[in-house]
Amino acid sequence: MKTNALSKMGQRTTEPPISWLMHAALSRPKLISLAAGFTDNASLPVAGARTALNQVFRSPKTGQPALQYGITAGNPALRKLTAAHLQKLDFQAVVSSSHSSLSLVLELKSRTSLRADASARQARTKDEDEKIYSPERLLITSGSQQLLYMTTEALCNEGDIVLVEDPTYFVFLGILQSRGLRARSVRLERDGLDLAHLERVLQSLRRNGELRRVKLFYLVSYFQNPTGVTTSFQKKCGLLKLLKKFERAAGHPIYLLEDAAYRGLRFAGNDVPSALAVPGAAERVIYAGTFSKPFATGVRVGYGILPKPLFAAVKHIKGNHDFGTSNLLQYLVARALASGIYGRHVARLQKRYAHKARVMKLAIERHFPPAVEWWEPEGGLYFWARLPRNVSTGLKSKVFSTALKNDVLYVPGEICYADDAARRKPNHEMRISFGNASEAEIREGIARLGKGLRKFLK
Ligand SMILES: Cc1ncc(COP(=O)(O)O)c(C=O)c1O
Repeated sequence: MKTNALSKMGQRTTEPPISWLMHAALSRPKLISLAAGFTDNASLPVAGARTALNQVFRSPKTGQPALQYGITAGNPALRKLTAAHLQKLDFQAVVSSSHSSLSLVLELKSRTSLRADASARQARTKDEDEKIYSPERLLITSGSQQLLYMTTEALCNEGDIVLVEDPTYFVFLGILQSRGLRARSVRLERDGLDLAHLERVLQSLRRNGELRRVKLFYLVSYFQNPTGVTTSFQKKCGLLKLLKKFERAAGHPIYLLEDAAYRGLRFAGNDVPSALAVPGAAERVIYAGTFSKPFATGVRVGYGILPKPLFAAVKHIKGNHDFGTSNLLQYLVARALASGIYGRHVARLQKRYAHKARVMKLAIERHFPPAVEWWEPEGGLYFWARLPRNVSTGLKSKVFSTALKNDVLYVPGEICYADDAARRKPNHEMRISFGNASEAEIREGIARLGKGLRKFLK
């Protein structure tokens, strides 16, 4: 007789590393956690959410349906508002992009409409846009995490390969591990993916006859978790072009899953258009967005824009998961969007995170030994610090245990790297978050971390 009745997946799924980190934070009251990806408590929109809910409950006409089950794809008003919001974001990002990327867009657009005159091109572009950002292609999910899970579920069989950035969002790696998928990682540069490396990875997969196992590239494109890196629009164009180039050998589409969880949290520089804005490529792009980080992490309303065949498959899977995200929460977000509460909140939040990021930067400059290199983000919640290669920061390292002894916690870089036999897993980095800690805690936490680091570094 079998010793347990768990499925293969039940047996394979291990405890996520973050659970241990959370436990460590909760069991030590004096500990300052620069580890959690939580947002800033003080700025959570209590008054705004109350106003929006009051508006929902002002009349039974909106109050009753909000308290009733909804439909699987999501509340129609929220789908419409979200699609319009995203279309506006991309339009503004294209317009405000630097001259070079704007001319690249126009050049690419003109290439896709060869003989059309200027006005026909305009009309076609508008038409295309309406199709791309159509509410019909937009699915509301229970956090964007659910979309990441269901998309992977809809596309990948056990043993399939998912391409990821190196490093990447470690919770996504948990999905791959649990579903018996393999990861191949592609190096990151300061402005996003190393496209030359991606091409080499794809070529080696083709040589080994494994390209047909590749269904998906997972990209955290804005202020990436964990490195804070934003992928430039040029790189998104290059990435989609490369995936397309290898599709024939794969024998099926290779999709780009663009995770834009931190997009709303930009506090410096200009927004970058999403991969949906890459001309002619929208049928290969799955865009995952969320209202968690820019509004309230406790609300957990996310969404996805999906190509048609995938939309149906993922919606059916959602039907089995939960047949619809909490309707009340969708009404809340829809009211916040429609009334301007959301927009005003995001603007305030950007200022607040700009300030907290500056506090962290000054503390790092003051307390970290010069041997530590670090990347300053233009948004999101994270700094990424790199120690010399021979100094380990992992869960079992002296740097980590010293930090814990000094009552400060960071995310060891090693947990953000996929298991990939093609390279040795780096183990000398750390993700440090300014999201949840107060300004005083950021200063004190970085001072404690720096004190520990000085034991090992000059
Ligand atoms: C990169 C990334 N994607 C997705 C998520 C999931 O966010 P949610 O499910 O709250 O939308 C997170 C949460 O931390 C994240 O860091």
